[in-house]
Amino acid sequence: MENKETIKIQKFIASTGLCSRRKAEDLIQKGYFTVNGEKAILGMRVSESDIVCFKGKNIKEENKEYYLLNKPLGYVCSSKEQFDRPIAVDIIKTKARLVTAGRLDMYTTGAIIVTNDGEIINKITHPKNEIEKEYYVTIKGKIKDEDLQKLENGVYIDTAKYIDTDSEKESIKENNKKYLTKKAKAKILGFNIEKNEQRIALIIHEGKNRQVRKMFKELGYSVLALHRNRFGKFDVKNMKPGTYRELSKKEVEILAKIK
Ligand code: URA
Repeated sequence: MENKETIKIQKFIASTGLCSRRKAEDLIQKGYFTVNGEKAILGMRVSESDIVCFKGKNIKEENKEYYLLNKPLGYVCSSKEQFDRPIAVDIIKTKARLVTAGRLDMYTTGAIIVTNDGEIINKITHPKNEIEKEYYVTIKGKIKDEDLQKLENGVYIDTAKYIDTDSEKESIKENNKKYLTKKAKAKILGFNIEKNEQRIALIIHEGKNRQVRKMFKELGYSVLALHRNRFGKFDVKNMKPGTYRELSKKEVEILAKIK
């Protein structure tokens, strides 16, 4: 990640030999390119650490690397950081241009896949794949039984900006711009009497922005700590915060099989 020199995206695409700069401009405007999983914009600047994909394929070939990181507290999941906060992918010692598959917010710790394989990132972050995520949530006080049930059945949260499908669009129109979270599983893990804190496991299959925090906030609970223990089949229960491991060939195959 040392090289932060940037060039215009159309120039970068042309430099890979994929097509001419003019053709690249046309294709960018038609929406064929993404940068780090997001639609590219004509004229935007990219650096060596960005993953530029054409129709989902990384256009600069390099050896693919795959890691499971237990993201520590205070690290951000973006690949560029304007406020000098530490960047999660920089924990991994490699020259590869890595990005996180999806995001955990700065104050959330836990399991996140990190790779330079744009196709895998597209697969595992696509909402249609509904990968299971298990969160451990520490709250102040005790949750009411009825609220545990609400977590499982759905909670209306404010997330109009992050709506993915047409049916979700329809649904939020009917519900005063609020999004109803999908079916989940919630279980009490334990209660610390001295601290008056409870730990709850929540399993969801979606990943709206700051979803877990918003679900608890809507129900009136303050979240003291949030940890993602598991992303799909990948758990970090035996990994210390800030440590990572390479995925095995078999594990990569599991990810590659996702449609
Ligand atoms: N839900 C949150 O509130 N934050 C995360 O980082 C992930 C899920």
